[in-house]
Amino acid sequence: ANSSIDAKLVLLGDMGAGKSSLVLRFVKGQFLEFQESTIGAAFFSQTLAVGDATVKFEIWDTAGQERYHSLAPMYYRGAAAAIIVYDISSSESFERAKKWVQELQKQGNPNMVRALAGNKCDLEDKRKVTTEEACTYAEENGLFFLETSAKTVINVNDIFYEIARRLPRA
Ligand code: GTP
Ligand code: MG
Repeated sequence: ANSSIDAKLVLLGDMGAGKSSLVLRFVKGQFLEFQESTIGAAFFSQTLAVGDATVKFEIWDTAGQERYHSLAPMYYRGAAAAIIVYDISSSESFERAKKWVQELQKQGNPNMVRALAGNKCDLEDKRKVTTEEACTYAEENGLFFLETSAKTVINVNDIFYEIARRLPRA
């Protein structure tokens, strides 16, 4: 039967990791070399057809700057899915991603579909986080993992599609 689900999705991760760029690519097909740092959070929505179901994502793109950290629970509370984003050219951003995973494990919805995105995978020559390391971490912590590039479009639709596929059906 046809079904339609609304799914709240939150993006979390270090400032500059590329959360807004991933959303902008997914929702509008755009990429900006000088994307402005998000203030507070930004809201988007996008609908995806998955098999005979329609998933309407209500997307909260949070701000990675530390001073906005205390706002995050408002956005991940009740979320059906989360994408934790780091930048493959920054070890610090990977460490920050692990902190977000821990915070969600403690305080998030236990049934949340969680994805780990190793973004900026076009920057292979500046890579600091190996695919292997991130993949192992994701497996050990029950996330699914993809390396993405908002710039070159690698795995952007795929990560949203995979989340949609994994959402529990009503
Ligand atoms: P905050 O809003 O501060 O939390 O940052 P953010 O995670 O939303 O990062 P944002 O999308 O603003 O991207 C930061 C910078 O990285 C921008 O200048 C983007 O153009 C750049 N960027 C984002 N994604 C990619 C990517 O896949 N490849 C490359 N090369 N640059 C990217
Ligand atoms: Mg942003």
